[in-house]
Amino acid sequence: MSLHDDVEEVLLDADAIANRVAELGAQLTADFGDRDPVLVSVLKGALPFLADLMRAMEMPVSIDLMEVSSYGAGTETSGQVRILKDLSRSIEGRHVIIVEDIIDTGLTLNYLLKYLADKAPASVRIVCLLDKPARRLADIPIDYRGFEIPDRFVVGYGLDFDERYRNLPYIGVLKPSVYGGAPPEG
Ligand code: PRP
Repeated sequence: MSLHDDVEEVLLDADAIANRVAELGAQLTADFGDRDPVLVSVLKGALPFLADLMRAMEMPVSIDLMEVSSYGAGTETSGQVRILKDLSRSIEGRHVIIVEDIIDTGLTLNYLLKYLADKAPASVRIVCLLDKPARRLADIPIDYRGFEIPDRFVVGYGLDFDERYRNLPYIGVLKPSVYGGAPPEG
């Protein structure tokens, strides 16, 4: 039984992701030059993207990790954002690049932007791999975007359904039989 058997359709294969991440890394390298930015990433879904993106940036960078909960136990967006893990170092005076895997309703980033702005960084920019504008509730200024995707529930390359499928090397859509009934939101 392979994880791949649960996938109905591959939306973005590993090559497409790698090529786009390389482009984003080159763009960030050109834009940030020697400004020594700190990449602030949000666990857990952004991990593969962060790992690949930082290696595509040919310049000194630091990283920090936060964990927030934006969803309830299922896949419904609750609108509630709780900080489960905070930054480990001060970002005062630093150029911050928020690295996210997906922006869906935008509620997580909306909260995070205000939270980080209060810590007096020199600047805050957002890079996200996937932008799903169909369900947006908060307007988010996305500076760097990997792909715009349709309103479908996607897994892989960090994204999960019930904590599974994060390790798929591509981004795909699950077969309805996997979640049973209506497709999950999110
Ligand atoms: C995902 C994603 C963002 C958030 C985006 O995380 O990593 O943080 O949802 O959704 P929004 O735009 O509707 O707020 P999730 O809460 O699923 O946690 P995970 O990364 O640990 O899977």
